[in-house]
Amino acid sequence: MCGIVGYKGKDEACDILINALKKLEYRGYDSAGIAIWHNNKIAVGRKKGKVDDLRKVISNGNFKGTMGLAHTRWATHGEPSERNAHPHRVRDVVVVHNGIIENYIELKEKLRNEGHKFASDTDTEVIPHLIISHLDKGKDFIEAVRLTLKELHGSYAVGIMREKEQIMIAARKESPLIVGVGNKEFFIASDAPAVIDRTNRFIFLEDNDMAVFRDDEMFLMNTDGEKVERKIHTVNWTGAMAEKGGYRHFMLKEIFEQPRAISETLLGRFKEEKGQVDFEELALPDLKKVKKIWMVACGTSYHACMIGKHMFEANLRIPVETDIASEFRYRNPILSENDILILVSQSGETADTIAAMKEGKRNGVYTLSICNVLGSTLARDADGVIFTHAGPEIGVASTKAFTTQISVFFMLMLHMAKKLGKMDTDEIRDMIAEIKKIPHKIQTILDHISPLEELARRYMTCKDFLYIGRGIHYPTVMEGALKLKEISYIHAEAYAAGEMKHGPIALIDENLPVVVVSPRDQTYQKTCGNIEEVLARRGRLILFTDDPSHEMADRVDAVFTVPETIYELLPILCVVPLQLIAYYIANLLGTDVDQPRNLAKSVTVE
Ligand code: G6P
Repeated sequence: MCGIVGYKGKDEACDILINALKKLEYRGYDSAGIAIWHNNKIAVGRKKGKVDDLRKVISNGNFKGTMGLAHTRWATHGEPSERNAHPHRVRDVVVVHNGIIENYIELKEKLRNEGHKFASDTDTEVIPHLIISHLDKGKDFIEAVRLTLKELHGSYAVGIMREKEQIMIAARKESPLIVGVGNKEFFIASDAPAVIDRTNRFIFLEDNDMAVFRDDEMFLMNTDGEKVERKIHTVNWTGAMAEKGGYRHFMLKEIFEQPRAISETLLGRFKEEKGQVDFEELALPDLKKVKKIWMVACGTSYHACMIGKHMFEANLRIPVETDIASEFRYRNPILSENDILILVSQSGETADTIAAMKEGKRNGVYTLSICNVLGSTLARDADGVIFTHAGPEIGVASTKAFTTQISVFFMLMLHMAKKLGKMDTDEIRDMIAEIKKIPHKIQTILDHISPLEELARRYMTCKDFLYIGRGIHYPTVMEGALKLKEISYIHAEAYAAGEMKHGPIALIDENLPVVVVSPRDQTYQKTCGNIEEVLARRGRLILFTDDPSHEMADRVDAVFTVPETIYELLPILCVVPLQLIAYYIANLLGTDVDQPRNLAKSVTVE
């Protein structure tokens, strides 16, 4: 969590930093701050609240200069307040930090014994104190920073400046940080969209890298003091992709982008005449020897894994285990050499998912990440990576990342089915034809959204919702309920429809809306039974189906029909109206849809 940005160049830094910080707000938004260097002075402004609140602090004209750092915070240590906001300044050194310094108590103790006094409750504040401590012992600035970084346990992405020198230093370990290379200007940022309107050329720093910006140059070294070289990558995202483009919220824009995003995911993968899906670049292990596939992720990406499991087990007949990444290593998973561990993450930076990958690597299994962000940790460090190519996702509630992840699982399943001889060329060709129709089918849903807005109006005052579905639709309803919770703050619980009788049925009365996903597939009859049970208790049902003549259609409160497709792809079509209902309810309630309270998009702490 937390967003960091830095600039050193020829233009006024303040506006550049504030604009970039706005684009990083999805990473945290409880306080923000800025530091601008000018003629051996650093002006620091900090404010509780969002970047727009910070704008008021810096409107006094004191923030002029061509080098600076800025930060938007998601509190870990210390409440959201001005004193805990970054940058943290100690004497003439300022620091912005994303991550967690695990040994900060011990370091604080040591520094207190040296006479240092602390002004915040954060772990971060030890960093400028340690730098000062090394400067006081006669070290130069770069060396003082290097020695400080060596003392830190945990994770950090940092930006550091000192009044006495026109030098900016950036460094990372287990928290994302990239360097943007412009025309006689440099940027540091937590991710590319923050500064994509100024440059599309990036260096993805690696763990223990330090980037030193001095005069008009930048050089890279590591915390052992050795020079390092890193490639400059060109990113094909554009500035417009990180803008709202006329939509009221990023989330709505991203829901509407799904047809195009999925088309991008599919692009270049099919050799239809051969009935083949191409993932040759992955160098997967010999699939015939694979005994088990693991799918591990957090949040929405975890729901995609649950859908992946249904697809893989049904079609490949290989056992699949799914796990919430934060739980994975605690159960000491029995990983064996011939397993495949798939890590799914939009950001590629989710700390628990990274920890799961490390667990896999320690056990010698092949790790494969499904990511959206180029240069992210999971994309770089896994043995193989498949990019979803969804484009930047800015809304905190994930939407297009989810449907593109499911699309990747589907293609990967077809690729493996071919290798294992589980499907013949014609079957694979038919399945490819089905997924190719999905973008158009989503568009059909998006072209007929007014009933969903109407439904949102009818149900917006309800305090609780139950979501039910069976088989592959169970994770779909989990995702629908998560969307509602995240952005409208309404309590929504998802249950496997068959489990309803084992508890939640006690909740049903005429006030409880029950959202049910019930397409005409192998789950149909049994789910109809569950609908009957809800009706018998006078529950209010909202039915999502692909069957215009669903036998329960006349008996429920509301029906929304999606186009038909094969079982494996129904979650993509069914989740779109669930995303939209959540969006419209939240919008009517006036919540902060793109930056819901207490959440952050990229959870870089465990
Ligand atoms: C946070 C976000 C969710 C996301 C989850 C996993 O909780 O708010 O939208 O699904 O992290 O993120 P990842 O980047 O790993 O997919």
